[in-house]
Amino acid sequence: MNIPLPMNTSAESWPTARYVDLRPSSESFLGAVISGLGAGRKSLPSKFFYDERGSRLFDRICELPEYYPTRTEMALMTDIAPELRALVPEGAELVEFGSGSSRKVRILLDAVAAFAAYVSIDISGDYLKQMASALACDYPALDVLAVSADYTQPIDLAHWEGCSRPRVGFFPGSTIGNLTPEDAVAFLENARRILGPGGGFIVGADLKKDAGILHAAYNDAAGVTAAFNLNLLVRINSELGGDFDLAAFHHRAHYNQEKGRIEMYLVSDRDQTARIDGHSFDFTEGETIHTENSHKYTVEEFQRIAERAGFIAQRAWTDENQLFSIHYLEVSSD
Ligand code: TRP
Repeated sequence: MNIPLPMNTSAESWPTARYVDLRPSSESFLGAVISGLGAGRKSLPSKFFYDERGSRLFDRICELPEYYPTRTEMALMTDIAPELRALVPEGAELVEFGSGSSRKVRILLDAVAAFAAYVSIDISGDYLKQMASALACDYPALDVLAVSADYTQPIDLAHWEGCSRPRVGFFPGSTIGNLTPEDAVAFLENARRILGPGGGFIVGADLKKDAGILHAAYNDAAGVTAAFNLNLLVRINSELGGDFDLAAFHHRAHYNQEKGRIEMYLVSDRDQTARIDGHSFDFTEGETIHTENSHKYTVEEFQRIAERAGFIAQRAWTDENQLFSIHYLEVSSD
């Protein structure tokens, strides 16, 4: 199902960047929370981390000394920019999925420079607006469209006037690793349809490595990752009227060797009951809520996933320490 962009109904007038809100309603947050906490093994979907506060906490994670992915990916992107420039079709639209602070896209806009337009899709509305308008000010020649949406769902960008331009997707930060391999294939298939024939896709994927490095990256000494994880409960309390005792849950992350992924949990410190909107959820001491996975792939493993989704794995680059990879995928033209 394609959701048409309601350009004439809900597009706000924004001085420099156009903005469209296709966000899921708070019902879907409530529904997801009730079904996730009602299950035998409790879980919460990680996309709800990213309200404005969550997005800011995530920006702080990216600056942490232990969190190598952001700085490694940015340095690698700067290094490979000339090669990306040769692959990206001239005059393409750059479509970023989950744009966060937009720092990475600036590297592409500055160094690859071939783009006529920038479409930013992010679930965090207010933060997205701020970032898109700042970007539009800094790149006056660029058409900027901010789309607030859940990019795991089909999005019809046909109203966007540049619809005849080739599209190049951008999905940095190993966000692809936050999906299971099966969901990653489904996401990539959806993205391939949004990008269209002749398009490309620049994807950052964290590499398999020593578990000690991974453990440190997801259990930072300053506790920012813990605050970010707990922000899910903060949101449930403030937006859904929940009564979680925030002091009675703690953050845990560990590497599951067999599945090749970091698993993140909120752990209940004692037997307790939390209520949300007339529903109640019992926790035993030590019981967990699974909040996130972060899958790590070898270059070949990731290329297999891209190919299963119908992409051609055109190029891959890694940094000298083999911490992180960037892939250039192509949508076949048929
Ligand atoms: N895509 C990031 C990653 O997997 C997301 C992330 C980093 C994250 N740290 C986190 C998500 C902590 C939840 C909690 O590395």
